[in-house]
Amino acid sequence: PVKSVAVLPGDGIGPEVTSAALDVLDKLALPLDLRFGEIGWECWRQEGNPVPARTWKLLEETDTCLLGAITSKPLREAEEELPADLRGTGLTFVSPVIQLRQRLSLYANIRPVSDLVDGRFDFTVIRENTEGLYAGYDFHGLDDALWNLVREHPNAQASGPGSSSVTLRLQTRFGMDRLIRHGFAYARSHGHHRLTLVDKPNVLRHSGNHLRELLELIAVDHPEIETEILNVDAVALWLVRRPERFGVLVAENMFGDILSDLGAGVMGGLGLAPSGNIGDHGSYFEPVHGSAPGMAGQDRANPMAMVLTVAQMLDHLGMPVPGGELREAVRAVAGRRTTLTYDMGGASGTREVAHAVAEQLDRS
Ligand code: NAI
Ligand code: MG
Repeated sequence: PVKSVAVLPGDGIGPEVTSAALDVLDKLALPLDLRFGEIGWECWRQEGNPVPARTWKLLEETDTCLLGAITSKPLREAEEELPADLRGTGLTFVSPVIQLRQRLSLYANIRPVSDLVDGRFDFTVIRENTEGLYAGYDFHGLDDALWNLVREHPNAQASGPGSSSVTLRLQTRFGMDRLIRHGFAYARSHGHHRLTLVDKPNVLRHSGNHLRELLELIAVDHPEIETEILNVDAVALWLVRRPERFGVLVAENMFGDILSDLGAGVMGGLGLAPSGNIGDHGSYFEPVHGSAPGMAGQDRANPMAMVLTVAQMLDHLGMPVPGGELREAVRAVAGRRTTLTYDMGGASGTREVAHAVAEQLDRS
């Protein structure tokens, strides 16, 4: 069956890497209906809305979304760039990426990390996207209820309620249950044999216990997958020293945020790292990198992150030609080392690298 994809190239290098990756995708002749739409800074500058109503409509009508990159700027600059008739009307720039995650309830951020050059490791970080320390329960200047929580701490006593801050790490059964289940399903469908729950149970004892009980309960349904709980700091060390020992890593919001970027680093940088955001009723896929405005329009950006993002999307859509073929082609080009962008030590342009990947698909 034909699947429809909302393609939102966005800002900066977004359009270049999107168009390059779609040239590669073309080679696979898949039953996909690509429908282009607009999102991002240019929409904000012209219309005062970075996600126009027509784009929400497109997202409703399609099976998933491929996003290039979006420029964001501080609130004051955002206001200044509005057309005169929209300035001072109370419009505020809200990050489109955050709007997508909230409105579509995309609770899992999926970051596959693999060694493209010699296939030494292949793991995936799955980060919780909706709760944890980033849930928004962040206070400075404590009211009585919050002060009562921390008043015994000697540093709090020395500072007083007016000079203390509290951020709550919200961890719900609902939120962690769906995340862990998604982790197991992902491990199973991607051939991983180990699931690591990343936490800090020896310090965060109550929430740690809560999570352990939940993991044990869900793990019973997946006896073929080995599970473990590791401390986040130890995982950071081992991702660098022995990345090959990991399969799927599941983590709450902040731990996952940090490990995801560590993963992009382990992989070789932003020019290579793909990602997907997934919920029960929606999804979108985007490279980890941003819009890199300084490089826009120069045919310099590495398109590999976007090609790997397309591969991740194909797997998610269950296409007849799996994303694995695209990944193999990228691996072959990366391994040959003759056609690479500057960030991988080469001198080729965006289109040239995409072309090499497309040719590789023809060969295999
Ligand atoms: P960035 O990811 O755009 O660029 C950071 C550095 O990585 C740059 O030096 C760039 O040269 C390099 N780089 C990024 N993508 C590359 C590629 N494909 N090939 C080769 N090198 C690449 O992050 P930065 O500079 O912090 O942000 C720029 C804009 O992007 C900002 O407006 C920011 O808000 C936005 N942004 C958007 C994201 C998104 O759409 N999800 C994520 C991160 C940033
Ligand atoms: Mg981050």
